[in-house]
Amino acid sequence: MTARTRQEKALKGGRWIFAIALCLMSTLVYAQTPPAPYLRTPTSQQLAWHELEYYAFIHFGPNTFTNEEWGESQSPPDVFAPTALDTDQWAKSFADAGMTGMILTAKHHDGMALWNTSSTTYKIGNGKWAKDRVANGSSADVVQMAAASAKKYGIKFGIYLSPWDIHRDPAMPKTNLTGTIYDEPQIFGDTTPGDYNALYAQQLTELVTMKLPDGSPVHLFEVWLDGNSGSDTVQTFNWTDYRNIIRQYQPDAIMWGHQGVDARWVGNEDGTTVATNWHTISRTQDETHYSGDELQTGVRDGLYWTPAEADARIRNGWFWHANEEPTTKDKLMTMYMQCVGRSVNLLLDVPPDTTGQLVNKDVDVLIKFKTQRSAFLNRGLLSPGFAANASSVRDGNSTLFGPANVLDGKPDTYWAINDSEKTGSLEVALGENYTIDAFIVQEHIALGQRIGGYAIDALSNNTWKTAVTGTSMGYKRIDKLSSSVKTDRIRLRITQANATPMINSFEALGTKA
Ligand SMILES: *[C@@H]1O[C@H](CO)[C@@H](O)[C@H](O)[C@H]1NC(C)=O
Ligand SMILES: *[C@@H]1O[C@H](CO)[C@@H](O)[C@H](O)[C@H]1NC(C)=O
Ligand SMILES: *[C@@H]1O[C@H](CO)[C@@H](O)[C@H](O)[C@H]1NC(C)=O
Ligand SMILES: *[C@@H]1O[C@H](CO)[C@@H](O)[C@H](O)[C@H]1NC(C)=O
Ligand SMILES: *[C@@H]1O[C@H](CO)[C@@H](O)[C@H](O)[C@H]1NC(C)=O
Ligand SMILES: *[C@@H]1O[C@H](CO)[C@@H](O)[C@H](O)[C@H]1NC(C)=O
Ligand SMILES: *[C@@H]1O[C@H](CO)[C@@H](O)[C@H](O)[C@H]1NC(C)=O
Ligand SMILES: *[C@@H]1O[C@H](CO)[C@@H](O)[C@H](O)[C@H]1NC(C)=O
Ligand SMILES: *[C@@H]1O[C@H](CO)[C@@H](O)[C@H](O)[C@H]1NC(C)=O
Repeated sequence: MTARTRQEKALKGGRWIFAIALCLMSTLVYAQTPPAPYLRTPTSQQLAWHELEYYAFIHFGPNTFTNEEWGESQSPPDVFAPTALDTDQWAKSFADAGMTGMILTAKHHDGMALWNTSSTTYKIGNGKWAKDRVANGSSADVVQMAAASAKKYGIKFGIYLSPWDIHRDPAMPKTNLTGTIYDEPQIFGDTTPGDYNALYAQQLTELVTMKLPDGSPVHLFEVWLDGNSGSDTVQTFNWTDYRNIIRQYQPDAIMWGHQGVDARWVGNEDGTTVATNWHTISRTQDETHYSGDELQTGVRDGLYWTPAEADARIRNGWFWHANEEPTTKDKLMTMYMQCVGRSVNLLLDVPPDTTGQLVNKDVDVLIKFKTQRSAFLNRGLLSPGFAANASSVRDGNSTLFGPANVLDGKPDTYWAINDSEKTGSLEVALGENYTIDAFIVQEHIALGQRIGGYAIDALSNNTWKTAVTGTSMGYKRIDKLSSSVKTDRIRLRITQANATPMINSFEALGTKA
């Protein structure tokens, strides 16, 4: 199924449900209906993915040992020799740091496989480290080990499988491998003999059907198909085939690519996005690539629900290099605000070193960042008991659609207004004076992204003062104020929407004044 037919099916499904609801309405006069889905909506898998927000990227492989980023030296597998590999340490550190999952480079651009594949001789399994491990009765399948560790520590697991493959690319020299068992056919490229798409499909199939040592299946939450290439060799990738393989064996996995299918690149590797960021775009992976700027913003009312993910690094390189240091917790906090705070997931790379473990310094920064983040976020002031009113309520039914729904902490309830209305406001009386320095708002995106303008006001000294103005809202916005406000009453205004807006959640961060 193509992305388009998949989404159209979802849309038709939505219309079908809506049609049933309309039929019910004609018999039950008082039944009241939610707004119809607006244009594209996320699949249930995408909705669950939005909620993951912040997770880890692990770049690990021959580059870790050769001090490279792209593995152009094409070293033989003996180079891969971690002295104290501990994938549990990865998963435990990420779980402790409040990250929801981890994505491992099963094969980076260099082409060396970290799992026990039968698709190539160029795999760590043919190196001395792996052979010793197997001889000692230990596992040497790093992908399987990482998957088991993720499960053990209760975080999600995903894989990265590079489409560009230097090892198979005739344009990339491999002098070190000439005449060895690693001197494999150069099938990468549309004009070379051999079908690289078939090789890639085989590798992908092995990974999406991987089982843990106890025989249980590995569940992948994301499959990362990097759009990068560093050579002039033209290879047309069969994205349709790759997508079919992922859908067949891992229906819950988000397929990430430059512009889709299920999630897109944010257009830079700095952990930031512009203030206006739409969850939709209008091109598939097969069409002309969007520029970085276009990917940051997305396309309002676009053809596909393809939300952005920001891949960023804790160090300068993606792989570990002895001469690099981790960034600071403050810089990570800024990144977080400019990704997660702008409805974009943050995929933060934290590379293991030559021991095969995350570096203590890096883990320290992650934990300090977590402490700082929690101290900031865990100051929510609003609670379900607060008095809230709104400019209007859909069908006048406050139980179903009233403003109190934005305070109840439930992901499936929301404040809504009549279909004919596209702007409106809601107010919350705080009962006491508070000093507020940030707001968090969430649009009810399950039924589509509608809002293109909002403002948040605080009442002080009997005057409403605007504290926040925003454009696209989407899954979640965290707006930090340049200076805090003292107030006992706050107001959220929807100033622009292309269809009747729906607000899932409204929160204020601060302290008692
Ligand atoms: C071949 O490998 C060695 C070490 O394994 C490395 O020092 C050398 O740079 C490699 N050659 C090339 C052409 O990259
Ligand atoms: C790979 O799998 C084969 C077949 O099960 C096994 O004999 C071999 O030891 C494995 N190698 C590694 C490195 O795990
Ligand atoms: C395998 O066991 C031998 C002998 O006990 C030991 O010297 C070696 O370090 C072990 N290798 C690995 C990879 O654990
Ligand atoms: C791509 O893969 C699909 C599904 O396997 C196949 O039907 C199609 O022929 C392939 N396209 C090309 C250009 O090879
Ligand atoms: C909420 O109630 C207050 C006090 O009655 C009123 O001043 C305000 O206009 C109402 N707000 C909305 C959005 O209707
Ligand atoms: C909203 O719709 C209801 C009927 O469903 C109607 O009674 C009410 O007047 C409408 N409100 C507004 C503000 O249009
Ligand atoms: C609101 O809708 C619910 C569920 O349909 C219904 O039970 C309730 O009576 C409605 N309330 C009003 C005020 O219409
Ligand atoms: C908040 O402070 C103002 C001025 O200091 C005061 O007039 C107002 O009554 C206070 N609000 C509440 C709910 O106590
Ligand atoms: C409150 O408003 C009044 C009248 O506009 C003004 O005189 C007074 O200075 C304001 N007080 C504060 C604390 O802003």
